Amino acid sequence: MQPDHSDAPCTEDDVRELVHRFYAHVREDATLGPIFEARVTDWDTHLSSLCDFWSALLLGTRRFQGAPIPAHARIPDLSWPLFQRWLALFHEVTATLDRPALQAQADAMAQRIAAKLWQVWQDRNVLPSLPDTLPDGLKAYRDSPVFTPDNLPPALQAAHSTKAGTWGVLTVHTGILRYTLDDPPHTAVVLSAGQRIVIQPQQRHHVAFELPGSFQITFYREAEPAAE
Ligand code: HEM
Repeated sequence: MQPDHSDAPCTEDDVRELVHRFYAHVREDATLGPIFEARVTDWDTHLSSLCDFWSALLLGTRRFQGAPIPAHARIPDLSWPLFQRWLALFHEVTATLDRPALQAQADAMAQRIAAKLWQVWQDRNVLPSLPDTLPDGLKAYRDSPVFTPDNLPPALQAAHSTKAGTWGVLTVHTGILRYTLDDPPHTAVVLSAGQRIVIQPQQRHHVAFELPGSFQITFYREAEPAAE
């Protein structure tokens, strides 16, 4: 039986157009192009598999046989800026198709999948460069609100710090969040869903959403706080 495409945002021809246009741009891109050229030997087969992938997502077909998560987890030189570049090109191309429903759905799906691919890649490839466990002897005393792009206070997007003796554990629930230290060593980490980071007392830092989502901070202090 043929899948019911009555609610579909597009046709198979649109999917083909999107995939072929997008990967033509990818292949010409100075940063993304070389990664693909080093790994993809048969572009006809690859494009046909990518059409099946997008057709599965947008039209509910079942031809796609690949496994994108392991395929990306084993590419050694991925980074979040590369995903940003991939998404920026993808959004440029979907905007040229003159198919608003397709554009909206494909853009949202691409963002979700990019966040997932980056999360899995990081889990498998990166050792944490900032601590994610607290020292012993601390006690949680307050949770922040759940922050999203809509309620993220400007103060958290500029350099700020907790007071002496106050630690924080920042946990990303969804989306992608960049956490940056404002003093040496100026480390920045790009965190995805489920990842957490310890905020040390008085350590200046700021945050920014790379992809919309949500995060929360739990504050800790010594179990027997010293008199102020
Ligand atoms: C930094 C961004 C990305 C890079 C550099 C990248 C690179 C690659 C490469 C080199 C392959 C071929 C792997 C192989 O055959 O061994 C591949 C496959 C694939 N990519 Fe990506 N990719 C990126 C992001 C994405 C995103 C965001 C999506 C989906 C929204 C995606 C979907 C796919 C799919 C479906 C395949 C085929 C997997 C399979 O057949 O098993 N990629 N990608």
